[in-house]
Amino acid sequence: MVSLAVLNISLLVACCRVVWTQGPMPAPALSIQRPPSGNKFELFSNVELICSPPSSAPYPIAVSFGRGNATQSAIFTSTIEASTKVKFTTVVIEANKGIYVCWYSGRRSGELSDISNPVNVLISPLPRPWLVVPPFIPIGGNYTVHCQTFSGLPNKTLSLYFRVLPVTKGKENFDHWGSVDLPDKYDRIILERKLVDATESFEFACRLEIKDINQNMYHSPLSNPLPAIAEEAPIRLVPENQGSKCLGQLVAQVRGSWGPVCDSGAADYRKNMAMGRVVCRELGCGTRWSVEKTQDIGVANYSLGSISCQGDELRLRDCAILTVHQVCPTGQGLAVVCSDALPTPQILVTGYGAVSRIRVSDEHSLEISCMFAAPWFGTRQVYVYLKHNSGSSVDTIYSRNLVSGETMTYTLPAPVKSGEYTCSVEERVVGVTIVVSKWPSVGLIVAGVFACLIGAAILGTMCFCAKKA
Ligand SMILES: *[C@@H]1O[C@H](CO)[C@@H](O)[C@H](O)[C@H]1NC(C)=O
Ligand SMILES: *[C@@H]1O[C@H](CO)[C@@H](O)[C@H](O)[C@H]1NC(C)=O
Ligand SMILES: *[C@@H]1O[C@H](CO)[C@@H](O)[C@H](O)[C@H]1NC(C)=O
Ligand SMILES: *[C@@H]1O[C@H](CO)[C@@H](O)[C@H](O)[C@H]1NC(C)=O
Repeated sequence: MVSLAVLNISLLVACCRVVWTQGPMPAPALSIQRPPSGNKFELFSNVELICSPPSSAPYPIAVSFGRGNATQSAIFTSTIEASTKVKFTTVVIEANKGIYVCWYSGRRSGELSDISNPVNVLISPLPRPWLVVPPFIPIGGNYTVHCQTFSGLPNKTLSLYFRVLPVTKGKENFDHWGSVDLPDKYDRIILERKLVDATESFEFACRLEIKDINQNMYHSPLSNPLPAIAEEAPIRLVPENQGSKCLGQLVAQVRGSWGPVCDSGAADYRKNMAMGRVVCRELGCGTRWSVEKTQDIGVANYSLGSISCQGDELRLRDCAILTVHQVCPTGQGLAVVCSDALPTPQILVTGYGAVSRIRVSDEHSLEISCMFAAPWFGTRQVYVYLKHNSGSSVDTIYSRNLVSGETMTYTLPAPVKSGEYTCSVEERVVGVTIVVSKWPSVGLIVAGVFACLIGAAILGTMCFCAKKA
């Protein structure tokens, strides 16, 4: 019973097919394997067209593919015995782009079917190459411009373009700098510029070009342009309190405006210290005394960061400066104090004032004070030493951190030692020489008083005698 029912259905299908072939043959469906992104195919990729004739076609049939403009001339034909899909693969180049269609014809009757729906093979633009130009270029330095694309692209040429900055009227267009044909495995061209001077002020851009087997040229869009401007990058130190040009927040002039030099982040103490040496040298401010991180760096158009100095460079711009940001990434800048900003301390002896030499008796103690006045130091502390130089040895008596205007006082107990007493801040030393003499003994005082009395008596006698005479 069951097998009979199946037979009936298949008879019905066979019957229907006979009915359909008597009209015009229905069109096959043409589909295209979709590109991974968008609706355009990469140059040189293979694209597969799939023609699906209807199951009612009078098999065997010859399935043909053709171009949209010349439908009856087949570019590929395949004969099939039964309902199946027919595939045709083409490579994506200029000559192969455009409309495709397919159709079929009965092998026995030669009758043509209707034409399938059209599909369009489009070529996606070449990928934009990318440009790498160092963000900071020092006057007198060297730099390279890289134009980079994907390796593996065949028959490619990279072309570099430039224009002069600032762009003036009539000179807005990029000029061709040069082109290089690259073997497949290479992916970039490099322009080297050496010992550039202040006229180095360009904007670069580049383009990828590929030639196919028919000598057809494909062009990518121009890369993002990037400036290459040699900078003098003058620097200065901006103090919180006026008074010295050798202390304060480190700022540099980049692309015409002043901005902070950033802390190198990851607690890179040595890098900051080496930079401090260069900064103090460049400013003619002596040697580096300290480099501190600062929080309040204000608003600027540019900041310099990721700076690596050896420490012996003549100018900050000779150090490797790797980033030009709009803001410091860590939000921290740097304050530098150079040796020339260090104050000369003062030394005071209580009861004598600021003297350079005093003579005292060994019976009394003495009070010595050290201090310094440097308002530009703000609340910065400076280590101050009180030392004694006996002639044969130098000993530190007392030392402390002081802020400007603060006094450190030390009492030298009796008997005070002779010698030079100094207050010092780093190499800045001020001293007082104290000569200590023994206080006269009691016996000598009595003898002295007697001597005076005898003298007075002699004088009195002489006067008396003179009056008499
Ligand atoms: C059809 O177009 C292709 C490219 O799309 C072209 O090469 C060919 O000459 C055209 N044929 C006719 C008959 O126009
Ligand atoms: C720049 O190039 C010149 C010439 O090749 C070379 O003498 C000089 O040392 C280079 N300068 C730097 C900072 O690398
Ligand atoms: C690259 O160019 C050569 C020489 O013109 C050619 O033989 C080759 O087919 C080209 N390769 C591609 C992928 O077009
Ligand atoms: C930032 O640049 C603008 C435009 O060039 C300028 O007017 C402004 O003064 C600059 N700001 C600073 C802090 O330099």
